[in-house]
Amino acid sequence: MQVARTVQECRALRAAMPGVVGLTPTMGALHEGHRSLMRRAREECDSVIATIFVNPTQFAPGEDYTAYPRREQEDLAICEAEGVDLVFMPPVEEMYPEGATTTVSVGELSTILEGASRPGHFDGVATIVTKLFAITRPDRGYFGQKDAQQLMVIRRLARDLQLGVEVIGCPIIREEGGLALSSRNVYLTDEERTQALAISRGLRKAEAGWLGGLRDASALRGMVHEEIAAQPLARIDYVSLADAESLAECDGRVTRDALLSVAARFGKARLIDNTVLRIPAGLGQG
Ligand code: PAJ
Repeated sequence: MQVARTVQECRALRAAMPGVVGLTPTMGALHEGHRSLMRRAREECDSVIATIFVNPTQFAPGEDYTAYPRREQEDLAICEAEGVDLVFMPPVEEMYPEGATTTVSVGELSTILEGASRPGHFDGVATIVTKLFAITRPDRGYFGQKDAQQLMVIRRLARDLQLGVEVIGCPIIREEGGLALSSRNVYLTDEERTQALAISRGLRKAEAGWLGGLRDASALRGMVHEEIAAQPLARIDYVSLADAESLAECDGRVTRDALLSVAARFGKARLIDNTVLRIPAGLGQG
């Protein structure tokens, strides 16, 4: 496994890579969720690049940029174990040289839900992912459904900017109790972690309702909200049920595939999770 810390090194090593190249961008503190992306890339591509970069521009002032866990040696060992060929791990100055002013913004999609709670976040994500695509020139990029809106933003930028990268969404990896894996879970105390299980429990309850034929948008949102709000340490940012294509909030009876998503704070941790409620095949969308 090779490790590049400068853009120049990364470009040179990339140029020598054979076949179809898969990329898994991360901010490190790697866990099974990240590993699942690397594994999928390893299975489907001839060469695999992972990037580890805690991107300052996607953190708003007052967010956890400085506290964000950094575990370089452990992360490199994980990449090695997953058969990654090249890790690109640049310092901040390398990605944002002085005087850089160009940013990428996908428009309205980045202003709702996570974008409304975290202004500027998706411009930061879109900009860094575009830069990482430009530097590593992957054929395929692997991203988690855990960050469902981020995945939509990245699909959109790859399409709109005609980058020639196939964006592949991968399923959410969860702990046994249901908590979605996240680098931010390290902020949780034992008590917060126990109470945070209400997020996935609420999503599962709504999912069960959906499978049982419940289609009322506010009732579905309400099931998740109620479950989480019952936890004394929870502070809910939003519970959303939105059209899976446009992210327009659903109203009344849901007739198309919908994304049920949550953001909630437990102590220092801001957690997000989601599930897609699909109209059963054969019934069509109308
Ligand atoms: P990070 O939070 O490190 O996540 C890197 C990738 O791992 C993302 O595609 C994310 O959706 C995926 N991931 C995280 N937890 C997951 C889980 N439990 N199951 C499946 N996939 C999971 O997302 C980012 O970094 C950054 O915004 C980045 C895209 C790297 C740009 O800076």
